[in-house]
Amino acid sequence: MRTPEVKADPGHYMTLEEKFNAHNYHPLPVVLERGEGIYMWDVEGKRYFDFLSGYSALNQGHCHPAIIHALTTQAKKLTLTSRAFYNNLLGEFAQYITSYFGYDKVLAMNTGVEGGETAVKLARRWGYVSKGISENKARVIFAENNFWGRTLAAISSSTDPSSYRGFGPYMPGFDLVPYNDLPALEQAFQNHDVAAFMVEPIQGEAGVVVPTDGYLAGVRRLCTEYEVLLIADEIQTGLCRTGKMLACDYENVRPDILILGKALSGGVFPVSAVLADDEIMMNIKPGEHGSTYGGNPLACSVAIAALQVLKDEDLAANAMEMGSLFRHNLQSIGSPFIKEIRGKGLLNAIVIEHPNPDAAWELCMNLKKTGLLAKPTHGNKIRFAPPLIINREQLLEALDLIKRSLQTLK
Ligand SMILES: Cc1ncc(COP(=O)(O)O)c(C=O)c1O
Repeated sequence: MRTPEVKADPGHYMTLEEKFNAHNYHPLPVVLERGEGIYMWDVEGKRYFDFLSGYSALNQGHCHPAIIHALTTQAKKLTLTSRAFYNNLLGEFAQYITSYFGYDKVLAMNTGVEGGETAVKLARRWGYVSKGISENKARVIFAENNFWGRTLAAISSSTDPSSYRGFGPYMPGFDLVPYNDLPALEQAFQNHDVAAFMVEPIQGEAGVVVPTDGYLAGVRRLCTEYEVLLIADEIQTGLCRTGKMLACDYENVRPDILILGKALSGGVFPVSAVLADDEIMMNIKPGEHGSTYGGNPLACSVAIAALQVLKDEDLAANAMEMGSLFRHNLQSIGSPFIKEIRGKGLLNAIVIEHPNPDAAWELCMNLKKTGLLAKPTHGNKIRFAPPLIINREQLLEALDLIKRSLQTLK
C-alpha cells in the first residue's frame, strides 16, 4: 500500500529512503520533486540551480519540451517490441545517429555501463577476428582512475578501492596505464594481444581531470600505429558538455568505437549507444549480444529528439562560452580555499584546500542553503556542471551564490 500523501516534510521522504532503500549512495539532504530547465524545486517549494545535471545526463535541461513531447507522443503508441521483431523507429534512429556522428553502425543499449561492456565485447571479438589474437588472450587497457560504471567488468578495471574492494574475483584480461601518459601507453602496446584502449577524454568522476593538449591525438596515433582500437568513453564528456559535440573533437580525433549515454535521452530515461564501423560491428552476429530494452521505440524517439535539441539550440557553443565565463569569474572570486579550477566547457570542478577534510561537503551544504545543488567527488573536489542551456544572467547569479557560500566556509 502506498503511504498517503505527506505534506512537504523532507524528513519523511529521507527516512523512507533510509529505511527501505539500499544505502549505496550518500545524498545531500534535499528532497526534490520538480525540475524545469536549469532549476529543480524541493518538496517545500524552494528553488535550486542544478549544478550536477544528473551527472551530465541533463545537458538539455530538465523536462525539455521537445524531448518530453517525443516521450509522451511515443509512449501512447508503442513503447517496447523487444528485438524479436522490427519496429518502425529503430532504423530511423540508427540512420539518424550514424549520420550525426559519422559511423557505419550503432548498437543501442540502455545504461552507460552497458555501453562500456558492449564496447569491450566488440573490441575482444575484433581482436580475434581481425587482429589475429589467439583465443581468450585479448587484453583491453584502461587508464588509472577511470570510471565507467558499477558492473563486475567496470569495477575490474577500477583503481578506486571503494569501487572494487570486496567484490572480487575480477574480470581477467584488463591492464592499467597512468592517464595522460603516452610513453606508458606505447609500452603497453608492445603486447600484440592488446585489442583496445578505452579512455575518457576528460576523466569525469575522477574529478574532471583534463589531460595535456595533444594527449588524445597522441593516443589516436599510437592506436593506429600498433593496431589497437581506440574506444572513447564520451558518456559524460559527450553531447556538447565540454563545449564541442564530442570532447575528442578538440583534437580532431575519431575513435574506432564511440560510447554515448546520459544526455542521449536528455535525462528522461537510460539510453546508451555504441558506434563503430562495419569492420568492428559486423563481427557480432544474431544472438551474440543484446538487451530486452535496447533499441526500444520509446528510447529511439526520445534520443532523436535529444540529439536534435543539441544542434537546434547550439548547445556546444553555449557550453563553450558559458564555461569560459564561469571559470574566469570563479577565478576572480579569489577564494583562499580553491586550490585549483579545471574543466572544459560546462564540465568543471574545483579542488578545495582546507584544514577540515569535510570542507567540500560543508561547502555543498552552504550552496544548498543559498539555492544551488552540487556534490563533492573524491572528498575534496566539487563538480560544477549545470545544464548547457544556462544563460549569462543565470550563470552570474549562480556564481554569486557560489561566492557567498565560499565566504561562509569557516
Ligand atoms: C565516463 C562514464 N562512463 C560510464 C558511466 C556509467 O554510466 P551509467 O551510470 O549510465 O551506467 C559513467 C557514469 O557516471 C561515466 O561518467
